[in-house]
Amino acid sequence: MEYINNELHLGPKKKGLKSLTANYMRPIYVYDLDFIRARYAAMAQALKNVRIFYAMKANSNPEVMRCLKEAGAGADVVSLGEIKRALESGFGPQDLVYSGVGKTRHEITEALKLEIYQINVESLPELERVGEIARGLGKKAAIALRLNPDIDINTHPYIATGLRDNKFGMELSLVPALEACLKKYSDSLELVGLSLHLGSMMIELEGFKEALQRLRKVYLEMQNEFPTLRRFDFGGGLGIFYDRVDLVKEQELLREYAKVALDGLQDLNCELQTEPGRWLVAHAGALITQVQYIKETTQKKFVIVDAGMNHLIRPSLYEAKHLIYSLEKKSGDMVADVVGPICESSDFFAKDSLVAQVKEGDFLVISDSGAYGYSMASTYNLQELPLEVCI
Ligand code: LLP
Repeated sequence: MEYINNELHLGPKKKGLKSLTANYMRPIYVYDLDFIRARYAAMAQALKNVRIFYAMKANSNPEVMRCLKEAGAGADVVSLGEIKRALESGFGPQDLVYSGVGKTRHEITEALKLEIYQINVESLPELERVGEIARGLGKKAAIALRLNPDIDINTHPYIATGLRDNKFGMELSLVPALEACLKKYSDSLELVGLSLHLGSMMIELEGFKEALQRLRKVYLEMQNEFPTLRRFDFGGGLGIFYDRVDLVKEQELLREYAKVALDGLQDLNCELQTEPGRWLVAHAGALITQVQYIKETTQKKFVIVDAGMNHLIRPSLYEAKHLIYSLEKKSGDMVADVVGPICESSDFFAKDSLVAQVKEGDFLVISDSGAYGYSMASTYNLQELPLEVCI
């Protein structure tokens, strides 16, 4: 984000945002596709020979999806809804990796009929279920086992997934039972990969390194039994900096991440895969909202805007901090809470923060909201969903 002639601009090509408010009706998510392309190119370059499956739960806008497909990505999907959206946006079944702990019979059946690239299985009963359904359909399912290495990556508890008490993946002690199940369904299951995902907003990489060490051993052992094992999916989760955006530091983190992944897995001589979401799209998106009221109490000043937690839930749910800019540069600041119209005290975007001295009718821009923004939006309080615009 950058002011040019007192007007806020987004992305490497410095695109002005003000014109988007010309016929303003309700909050608008804006996504800069050039920014997304640049992020994808940077990641693809750092992770040479690694196939990138974009975790579309971060942002499933069809134009964003099409842009990433054209750039070369596959997609990591977690529901039949996401499978359908991916196919509608130009991805083919062979571009899809299907993750998630709760796949229903119907979803598995559809995925198998489509012959998608890989199903990342998250439990023994799920493996059994996929084996049985594939057998009934006369298909052979390409399976990756998502293993849970019991590693702490030091992130918000709501987005950690690689610990023993998380619902995700399977404990390493389950491997013998998984092997038995794979053998029982040898006609309908083909073990093609191991996968892991430790959680989101990974900024420190020690845990990631340790997890790879644990899983590479399992990979080598299992490959003796199952020579079809040929892929290693090291998940997504690479973090970004929300509080002080520093793209140079993020590139360094990316390089370090690539080094840990490639050094840790190179000698497996296998096909490497990753599932990033946030890193590709978060900075490329912003939420434009209009100031409705400046409300002062004896305790506080509130900037009440027309976007709410229903449009961007991250601050309410994870106490996430998104920098908030005035669309047009103001000369002064004030300390205020920026809050929405929803009837909940958790409906806030910032608390006791320095905010530009805006007034009713002005626009604020909530930055870095291209990931887990619109995709988590709801119509709570029967508020309309925000608009989405790609530039
Ligand atoms: N792979 C799997 C299996 C996942 O569950 C996720 C995210 C990803 C990949 C992509 O993670 P990323 O690269 O985006 O960190 N709503 C939260 C984030 C939840 C992440 C859920 N899983 C937030 O707004 O911070």
